[in-house]
Amino acid sequence: MDAFINQVKNDHHQFDQGKLEDHVGDEPFALMAKWLRDAVEKPTNEPNAMAVSTIGLDGFPHSRVVYLKELLEEGLVFYTNYHSDKGRAIEQNPNVHALFFWSELERQISVTGTVLKVPEEMSDEYFQSRPRGSKLGAWASYQSERLSSRAELEERVQQLATQYHEDVPRPPHWGGYIIEPLRIEFWQGRPSRLHDRIVFEKQQNGSWDIYRKNP
Ligand SMILES: Cc1cc2nc3c(=O)[nH]c(=O)nc-3n(C[C@H](O)[C@H](O)[C@H](O)COP(=O)(O)O)c2cc1C
Repeated sequence: MDAFINQVKNDHHQFDQGKLEDHVGDEPFALMAKWLRDAVEKPTNEPNAMAVSTIGLDGFPHSRVVYLKELLEEGLVFYTNYHSDKGRAIEQNPNVHALFFWSELERQISVTGTVLKVPEEMSDEYFQSRPRGSKLGAWASYQSERLSSRAELEERVQQLATQYHEDVPRPPHWGGYIIEPLRIEFWQGRPSRLHDRIVFEKQQNGSWDIYRKNP
């Protein structure tokens, strides 16, 4: 969380709910960081939770909530099991969608983009920062696979706790993904359903086309 809060401290965007265009800037990341900080400060229930949708191997979209762990210049970072349903879907099709919704602020941010794995050192560093229980959990859970009973999972945790009685290494199949946005839409609820929708669309030359959409 601190990464994006620090990023926001360095930007000078002032947000006034009535005047979205005045402070959108010419790139979307500062505004996204600002909205994330607002969600932390409001406070909202799960400020950095986002629904990530992938195109499954069955051809259908599949969504699940994950935590945004870092907002970098290149994109949005989350951590998961690379062998999970989402990991397998991403391997086949890196096109994803991510959605934040903060009901307390009447805001949503919708991100369309492509996904890459983050460098291994970055996953190592984040994994090592996690509590021991979460580290053991990452080994114990064969995420998205069928599980015959809760007891089976708990036994695996016990065995792993003995095996790794000191340090727990990062499982090679566990790590980060970064969503590199192609399009970002900021949605602000306004009276009489005349909501603001501002879209940033990435151009071939790397600049952002910015336009407003009907609510
Ligand atoms: C608030 C919340 C945060 C979550 N954060 C993560 C996360 O950061 N990484 C993760 O792998 N799963 C997270 N989960 C669990 C996922 O929603 C999902 O159940 C899991 O990743 C398996 O998804 P899959 O089978 O579609 O791959 C979170 C769930 C909730 C409700």
